[in-house]
Amino acid sequence: MAEMAHGAHSEESGTRRDFLTLATAATGAVGAACAIWPFVDSMNPAADTLALSTTEAALDNIAEGMAVKVMWRGKPVFIRHRTADEINEAQSVDVATLPDPEPDSARVEKPEWLVLVGVCTHLGCIPLGTSSGENKGDFDGWFCPCHGSHYDTSGRIRKGPAPRNLAVPTYTFLDDTHIRIG
Ligand code: FES
Repeated sequence: MAEMAHGAHSEESGTRRDFLTLATAATGAVGAACAIWPFVDSMNPAADTLALSTTEAALDNIAEGMAVKVMWRGKPVFIRHRTADEINEAQSVDVATLPDPEPDSARVEKPEWLVLVGVCTHLGCIPLGTSSGENKGDFDGWFCPCHGSHYDTSGRIRKGPAPRNLAVPTYTFLDDTHIRIG
């Protein structure tokens, strides 16, 4: 009987000890988080940087078959007004044969407008093919001169060392001739 009482008592004190340990640990964790937060927060972008996190671009002066480069968050963004042939090329590929399979429809809001982050997914060079007269590579899209990656008219990697398609940034059409990137 006395033993049982002793057992119950030690179980209870064990539970209390567990609780105290947990409570101390939790308080410590909260304290540490509060102490660290100002340092972490100071590394987040400042308000003036956040104000630059979106860029608006006008499309009305980009003729069909032309492309422009705008800067967004310190990176080039390519905006290409695709011709019917380029759209057709992009849509008629067998997606399963691509190194980074993605249908063209998943990469555009409107087929005639292709918007891409202009940074090669290999080692970060800026591919050629936006300005007229530049080498567009073997697939009529972009060619990265650093190590020879070829991108197609949907900005998808087709040949060369780059592992992924050119990224599509988030963007919205503000009206028929303006987009906001970011
Ligand atoms: S950085 Fe573009 S192919 Fe290497």
